[in-house]
Amino acid sequence: MKRTIKFAAFVLVAAFALVLAGNSAQAQQKKAEPWPVPAEYKNMANPLAGDAASIKLGKTSYNKNCASCHGKTGLGDGPKSRTLKTSSGDFTGAEYQGQTDGEHFYKTKVGRGDMPAYDKKVPDREIWAIVNYMRTFKK
Ligand code: HEC
Repeated sequence: MKRTIKFAAFVLVAAFALVLAGNSAQAQQKKAEPWPVPAEYKNMANPLAGDAASIKLGKTSYNKNCASCHGKTGLGDGPKSRTLKTSSGDFTGAEYQGQTDGEHFYKTKVGRGDMPAYDKKVPDREIWAIVNYMRTFKK
Protein backbone atom coordinates (compact mmCIF):
# COMPACT_ATOMS: atom_id res chain seq x y z
CA MET A 1 0.00 0.00 0.00
CA LYS A 2 2.72 2.44 1.03
CA ARG A 3 4.53 1.66 -2.19
CA THR A 4 1.42 2.43 -4.26
CA ILE A 5 1.12 5.83 -2.59
CA LYS A 6 4.78 6.56 -3.20
CA PHE A 7 4.40 5.58 -6.85
CA ALA A 8 1.27 7.73 -7.23
CA ALA A 9 3.11 10.69 -5.73
CA PHE A 10 6.00 10.14 -8.13
CA VAL A 11 3.64 10.07 -11.13
CA LEU A 12 1.98 13.29 -9.93
CA VAL A 13 5.30 15.10 -9.57
CA ALA A 14 6.46 13.87 -12.97
CA ALA A 15 3.21 15.01 -14.62
CA PHE A 16 3.54 18.43 -12.97
CA ALA A 17 7.11 18.78 -14.19
CA LEU A 18 6.00 17.96 -17.75
CA VAL A 19 3.28 20.64 -17.62
CA LEU A 20 5.82 23.19 -16.38
CA ALA A 21 8.25 22.31 -19.17
CA GLY A 22 5.46 22.69 -21.73
CA ASN A 23 4.52 26.12 -20.39
CA SER A 24 8.04 27.47 -20.51
CA ALA A 25 8.38 26.32 -24.14
CA GLN A 26 5.22 28.30 -24.93
CA ALA A 27 6.61 31.39 -23.21
CA GLN A 28 9.47 31.48 -25.73
CA GLN A 29 9.76 34.40 -28.14
CA LYS A 30 7.38 34.31 -31.06
CA LYS A 31 8.27 35.05 -34.66
CA ALA A 32 6.92 38.39 -35.87
CA GLU A 33 3.63 38.37 -37.81
CA PRO A 34 3.64 39.73 -41.40
CA TRP A 35 3.74 43.54 -41.28
CA PRO A 36 1.84 45.23 -44.13
CA VAL A 37 3.19 48.60 -45.31
CA PRO A 38 1.03 51.23 -47.13
CA ALA A 39 1.89 51.49 -50.84
CA GLU A 40 2.96 55.14 -50.62
CA TYR A 41 5.70 54.18 -48.16
CA LYS A 42 6.62 50.93 -49.86
CA ASN A 43 7.45 52.75 -53.10
CA MET A 44 9.09 55.77 -51.46
CA ALA A 45 12.55 56.53 -52.84
CA ASN A 46 15.42 56.89 -50.36
CA PRO A 47 16.47 60.58 -50.65
CA LEU A 48 20.02 59.74 -49.53
CA ALA A 49 22.64 58.02 -51.66
CA GLY A 50 24.09 54.89 -50.04
CA ASP A 51 27.51 56.59 -49.88
CA ALA A 52 30.15 56.58 -47.15
CA ALA A 53 28.78 59.75 -45.50
CA SER A 54 25.21 58.47 -45.05
CA ILE A 55 26.40 55.03 -43.97
CA LYS A 56 28.59 56.65 -41.32
CA LEU A 57 25.68 58.74 -40.01
CA GLY A 58 23.45 55.66 -40.08
CA LYS A 59 25.99 53.55 -38.19
CA THR A 60 26.33 56.07 -35.35
CA SER A 61 22.55 56.36 -34.99
CA TYR A 62 21.99 52.59 -35.31
CA ASN A 63 24.50 51.81 -32.58
CA LYS A 64 22.88 54.40 -30.31
CA ASN A 65 19.19 53.59 -30.97
CA CYS A 66 18.84 50.10 -32.40
CA ALA A 67 21.75 47.79 -31.52
CA SER A 68 20.46 47.19 -27.95
CA CYS A 69 17.80 44.91 -29.50
CA HIS A 70 18.82 44.27 -33.10
CA GLY A 71 22.48 43.58 -32.25
CA LYS A 72 25.66 45.25 -33.58
CA THR A 73 25.54 43.23 -36.79
CA GLY A 74 21.75 43.02 -37.21
CA LEU A 75 21.32 39.43 -36.03
CA GLY A 76 18.70 40.40 -33.44
CA ASP A 77 21.02 39.40 -30.58
CA GLY A 78 21.38 42.70 -28.68
CA PRO A 79 21.42 42.55 -24.84
CA LYS A 80 17.75 43.72 -24.64
CA SER A 81 16.52 41.14 -27.15
CA ARG A 82 16.08 38.46 -24.49
CA THR A 83 13.46 40.56 -22.69
CA LEU A 84 11.24 40.89 -25.81
CA LYS A 85 8.06 38.86 -26.47
CA THR A 86 8.61 39.08 -30.23
CA SER A 87 11.81 38.22 -32.07
CA SER A 88 13.43 41.34 -33.52
CA GLY A 89 14.37 39.39 -36.64
CA ASP A 90 17.55 38.94 -38.64
CA PHE A 91 18.66 41.87 -40.80
CA THR A 92 21.25 39.80 -42.70
CA GLY A 93 18.77 37.47 -44.43
CA ALA A 94 16.60 37.64 -47.55
CA GLU A 95 13.35 38.13 -45.61
CA TYR A 96 14.62 41.52 -44.44
CA GLN A 97 16.96 42.51 -47.27
CA GLY A 98 14.27 41.64 -49.86
CA GLN A 99 12.09 44.53 -48.62
CA THR A 100 12.26 48.05 -50.10
CA ASP A 101 14.00 50.99 -48.37
CA GLY A 102 10.51 52.50 -47.95
CA GLU A 103 9.33 49.45 -45.98
CA HIS A 104 12.30 49.69 -43.60
CA PHE A 105 11.72 53.44 -43.24
CA TYR A 106 7.99 53.02 -42.48
CA LYS A 107 8.49 50.27 -39.88
CA THR A 108 11.18 52.30 -38.12
CA LYS A 109 8.99 55.41 -38.09
CA VAL A 110 5.74 53.89 -36.81
CA GLY A 111 6.92 50.87 -34.78
CA ARG A 112 4.71 48.02 -33.55
CA GLY A 113 4.53 46.06 -30.28
CA ASP A 114 8.07 45.63 -28.88
CA MET A 115 9.50 47.72 -31.74
CA PRO A 116 9.48 51.39 -30.65
CA ALA A 117 8.24 54.19 -32.98
CA TYR A 118 11.09 56.54 -33.95
CA ASP A 119 8.84 59.16 -35.57
CA LYS A 120 9.42 61.68 -32.75
CA LYS A 121 12.90 60.49 -31.72
CA VAL A 122 14.96 60.33 -34.93
CA PRO A 123 14.65 62.82 -37.85
CA ASP A 124 13.54 61.34 -41.21
CA ARG A 125 16.90 62.00 -42.85
CA GLU A 126 18.68 60.05 -40.12
CA ILE A 127 16.22 57.13 -40.45
CA TRP A 128 17.04 56.95 -44.18
CA ALA A 129 20.74 56.90 -43.26
CA ILE A 130 20.10 54.00 -40.84
CA VAL A 131 18.25 52.18 -43.67
CA ASN A 132 21.41 52.59 -45.80
CA TYR A 133 23.62 51.32 -42.97
CA MET A 134 21.39 48.27 -42.43
CA ARG A 135 21.93 47.33 -46.10
CA THR A 136 25.57 46.64 -45.17
CA PHE A 137 24.38 43.72 -42.96
CA LYS A 138 23.36 41.75 -46.06
CA LYS A 139 25.00 38.32 -46.21
C1 HEC B 1 13.38 47.56 -27.72
C2 HEC B 1 13.91 46.73 -28.80
C3 HEC B 1 14.05 47.35 -30.18
C4 HEC B 1 14.73 48.51 -30.51
C5 HEC B 1 15.52 49.44 -29.60
C6 HEC B 1 14.59 48.64 -31.95
N1 HEC B 1 13.84 47.61 -32.46
FE1 HEC B 1 13.34 47.30 -34.43
N2 HEC B 1 12.24 45.68 -33.91
C7 HEC B 1 12.10 45.17 -32.64
C8 HEC B 1 11.16 44.06 -32.67
C9 HEC B 1 10.73 43.22 -31.49
C10 HEC B 1 10.74 43.92 -34.01
C11 HEC B 1 9.69 42.94 -34.56
C12 HEC B 1 8.35 43.65 -34.37
C13 HEC B 1 7.17 43.03 -35.06
O1 HEC B 1 7.28 42.62 -36.23
O2 HEC B 1 6.10 42.96 -34.45
C14 HEC B 1 11.45 44.95 -34.76
C15 HEC B 1 11.31 45.12 -36.13
C16 HEC B 1 12.01 46.06 -36.88
C17 HEC B 1 11.90 46.22 -38.32
C18 HEC B 1 11.06 45.35 -39.25
C19 HEC B 1 11.88 44.15 -39.67
C20 HEC B 1 11.21 43.31 -40.73
O3 HEC B 1 11.85 42.36 -41.24
O4 HEC B 1 10.06 43.56 -41.08
C21 HEC B 1 12.73 47.25 -38.68
C22 HEC B 1 12.98 47.79 -40.06
C23 HEC B 1 13.33 47.74 -37.45
N3 HEC B 1 12.87 47.00 -36.38
C24 HEC B 1 14.24 48.78 -37.41
C25 HEC B 1 14.75 49.33 -36.22
C26 HEC B 1 15.58 50.50 -36.19
C27 HEC B 1 16.10 51.22 -37.43
C28 HEC B 1 15.82 50.78 -34.87
C29 HEC B 1 16.59 51.93 -34.29
C30 HEC B 1 16.31 53.28 -34.80
C31 HEC B 1 15.13 49.75 -34.08
N4 HEC B 1 14.49 48.90 -34.94
C32 HEC B 1 15.14 49.67 -32.70
C33 HEC B 1 12.74 45.64 -31.49
C34 HEC B 1 13.49 46.80 -31.41
